[in-house]
Amino acid sequence: MKILGIETSCYETAAAVVEDGVKVLSNVIASQIPLHHITGGVVPEVAAREHVVKIMHVIGQALLDAGMTADEMDAIAFTQGPGLLSSLVIGISAANTLAIAAGKPVIPTNHIAGHIYANWLDEKKNDPVRFPLVVLTVSGGHNELVYMKSHARFRLIGETLDDAAGEAFDKVARLLGLGYPGGPQISRAAERGNAKRFSLPKAHISAESYDFSFSGLKTSVLNLVKEEHAREGKLSEEFVADCSAGFQEAVCEVLSDKLLKAANEFRSVEVHLAGGVSANLRLRQMVEEKIKLGYFFDFRGKKVNLKNRPRLRYAANISYCTDNAAMIASAAFFHQKHNRKAYAVPGKALADPNLRMYLS
Ligand code: KG4
Ligand code: ZN
Repeated sequence: MKILGIETSCYETAAAVVEDGVKVLSNVIASQIPLHHITGGVVPEVAAREHVVKIMHVIGQALLDAGMTADEMDAIAFTQGPGLLSSLVIGISAANTLAIAAGKPVIPTNHIAGHIYANWLDEKKNDPVRFPLVVLTVSGGHNELVYMKSHARFRLIGETLDDAAGEAFDKVARLLGLGYPGGPQISRAAERGNAKRFSLPKAHISAESYDFSFSGLKTSVLNLVKEEHAREGKLSEEFVADCSAGFQEAVCEVLSDKLLKAANEFRSVEVHLAGGVSANLRLRQMVEEKIKLGYFFDFRGKKVNLKNRPRLRYAANISYCTDNAAMIASAAFFHQKHNRKAYAVPGKALADPNLRMYLS
């Protein structure tokens, strides 16, 4: 089954053709990053205008790369939400218009479910994803821990109480005078830094909680930056590198500990990282290390042994971590396979954009 996916929830205009949820036939992403670099963040009106300019070219290119026409698609999937409303509406309109013209059904798809299904793209026959699993989706707008017993059955077990991890990376990068998006900039600066120079808080919230909070950590960095400015009048390269390394380490510690705590409780055979922040190499490495060592840390900093050693999985290609349309086409495929109600008549796709609509 071939699905054309369309994604415009934030600042990437993307379209892709995916067969049976795993085989990527094309994956086109027109990034607006240089545009938003100027303002140090996304201005919704600017993003929406750029989607208008690019959307039809991107869809055309995705079909061309796949060597197919819209008539050969079995369905058209699009990101229904969550995301920036003025950006979403461009993809929703384009998908519905194309579906009406080509006489195809549409599959409204949840953006976070899309990030989760990025880990199925290019899945190998001899290494299939196995359930039950726990997935940590960490991006600029979202930060969720989700338990999956089987396909398209999501149980939300934790989420952020304030900033998402990616948002914290972006805000801290701005404090340190680094560019946008902050994640890749911070991890680059951190390579030269000493993560132990500053003692930064790791918010575990409570013994039971799977929720996250990064605002305290962000405030700690802000205070360090103010002190350094008062003392030196500027931020040295060494200061920026050490702060970046310390911040990255604190975020990754909390994310990896909560993911493995959930894996223990839900007896997961796999743990997944998804979303823009899953491109972070230190996060991947830290989870891998803890699985290899066989323990993680609880909220008091005490070691907890892993009951089993889950397999760590993240996207096969780094371009599947950040926003793309292949992940939307994949989520749509599995969604319709396990829930016939997933289909909608073009123009009448009014599904709830909240991930909760998928909860089992
Ligand atoms: O999933 P995504 O493309 O968009 C949203 O759905 O929000 O995620 C973008 C976020 C940005 O906040 C960016 O700073 C973060 O992902 N990000 C990273 C890295 N690459 C992107 N964060 C940490 N390390 C990275 N290497
Ligand atoms: Zn995203």
